Amino acid sequence: MCREVIEFLGCGGGGVYVDCTLGGGGHGRAILEASGPEGVLIGFDRDGAAIRHASEVLGAYGERVVLIRADFAEVSGELHERGIEKVDGILMDLGVSSFHLDEAERGFSFRFNAPLDMRMDRRGDVTAAELINTLEVKELASVIKRYGEERFAMRIARAIKRAQKEKPVLTTGALAEIISAAIPQCFHGEKIHPATRTFQALRIAVNDELTALKKGLEGAMECLGSGGRMVVISYHSLEDRIVKKFFRKSASPCECPRDLALCLCAKVPTLKVLTGRVITASAAEVEDNPRARSAKLRAAEKL
Ligand SMILES: C[S@@+](CC[C@H](N)C(=O)[O-])C[C@H]1O[C@@H](n2cnc3c(N)ncnc32)[C@H](O)[C@@H]1O
Repeated sequence: MCREVIEFLGCGGGGVYVDCTLGGGGHGRAILEASGPEGVLIGFDRDGAAIRHASEVLGAYGERVVLIRADFAEVSGELHERGIEKVDGILMDLGVSSFHLDEAERGFSFRFNAPLDMRMDRRGDVTAAELINTLEVKELASVIKRYGEERFAMRIARAIKRAQKEKPVLTTGALAEIISAAIPQCFHGEKIHPATRTFQALRIAVNDELTALKKGLEGAMECLGSGGRMVVISYHSLEDRIVKKFFRKSASPCECPRDLALCLCAKVPTLKVLTGRVITASAAEVEDNPRARSAKLRAAEKL
């Protein structure tokens, strides 16, 4: 949704824009093109490989690009440290990149058999294998239920723990097999692999993605100047719910209890929501990039 991102960010000539999730650098490049010849892009990614890749693909833009390997939860502190107080636009294109999913050794995908890693930042301590091998069965079921919205969470957690009594579960292939066998055959959907929800849950837990998103949204608000725009693309309902709630709360002129006849809070809205209805990818884009099928774009303007 490159065109929509550029439109909602309102990139014209000049300005300072933050891409919190550089990934392959596609949106970053589009922002640089739209804000040329003077616009500056500050690009974040917590994955060192993404930063290295971005420094190659965006190298031609020279001093117009600043790359920061950090969690976007820290966006405000990182910008502050560099003496950047206010920016004109902030983009978050959440989740994993196609690099993560297509590189077997990163352990994000059940399409390949590889070590069960799933860390976006490989300096992080806990891999998915360590997580599932250390959590108790109830904790594991709770992670799978909460972050994967998986109805068979307890069956899957028990099956993993049973398998671990034989030997530790260390690979994507072994885990995917255990999950498939734990879900009754009649519930194996045609469209998605039975391990999809559990893999999503573990990835979210390993990278503490929802905490980062909440902190990142707060941080983005601190960094945006008045009239600055924020665009967030999410890929599952847990993320989208957080973004929607944050936007709604920031845009609301009142936070009094509903049963109060008069407003007493004197709250001042800090955002104007620009996307009345969530924006989704066009059929042509989904055909080109099937991952865009679940993308939801929301945008807002700082007041
Ligand atoms: C969907 S991809 C972004 C794709 C990018 N917009 C493009 O045009 O190629 C998400 C990227 O954000 C990074 N990421 C996810 N959560 C992050 C966080 N909390 N802090 C920094 N980077 C994060 C991932 O490592 C990944 O590279």
